[in-house]
Amino acid sequence: MRVPLMAGNWKLFKTAAETTVFCERFLPMVAAASHCEILICPPFVNIPAAVAATQGSKVGVGGQDVYWQKEGAFTGEVSAPMLKAVGCRSVIIGHSERRQYFGETDTTVFKKTTAAIEAGLQPIVCVGETLDERESNRTEDVLATQFKGGLGALRPDEFAKIVIAYEPVWAIGTGRTATPDMAAAAHKFLRDQVRGAFGEEAAQAVRILYGGSVKPANVKNLMAQPDIDGALVGGASLKPEDFSLIVNF
Ligand code: 13P
Repeated sequence: MRVPLMAGNWKLFKTAAETTVFCERFLPMVAAASHCEILICPPFVNIPAAVAATQGSKVGVGGQDVYWQKEGAFTGEVSAPMLKAVGCRSVIIGHSERRQYFGETDTTVFKKTTAAIEAGLQPIVCVGETLDERESNRTEDVLATQFKGGLGALRPDEFAKIVIAYEPVWAIGTGRTATPDMAAAAHKFLRDQVRGAFGEEAAQAVRILYGGSVKPANVKNLMAQPDIDGALVGGASLKPEDFSLIVNF
């Protein structure tokens, strides 16, 4: 049985004070949720505020990115052991916004993923096609390439620690969600990739989250798909009411 993971990616939103206010309102709303894991991923500087505000609750905290070196002359970067030391449970890797604006590639995704695992963090590795790629029937090629390049060379014991997030780029922040059928097909394709590379047991065990305009109104139909094991939520995770409705789908 795969335990659903409901994760909020806050992107470049909220101050430390706003993080604390969010948690004060959100924690009571999800206190009774025992059916899933819950995670919020604030910007780096607000991780300590989130860790303090969620202490003793079941809500975990994660980073939105990580560098693969542990330390050194790498101005502006944050390492996996640093995220772990400040209280992170997880880290998002390879988000399409990082790929699009910050030069993330499948090679850097692989390095970041192994660094996160070595530090004891759970990597949430994002894959997904652009609109152009979908419309030219290249979705499966893109997913297979991202999977192979980012995750294919992990050792089986490393792969067992990761979560995959399927986020069609055209559905992010657009209000245009993949239909449950479309998402289900992509998730099934990804699980087949896992089966081919790591075997049946790994395919059954790995959690594949859906991300892209997840809202209280569509989460139930998405979560009803057998291969969808949770959600990576952007905009709707910024509001305690909306994110709690998503968590309690
Ligand atoms: P939205 O939920 O705002 O579409 O963002 C999705 C996302 O990118 C989560 O990582």
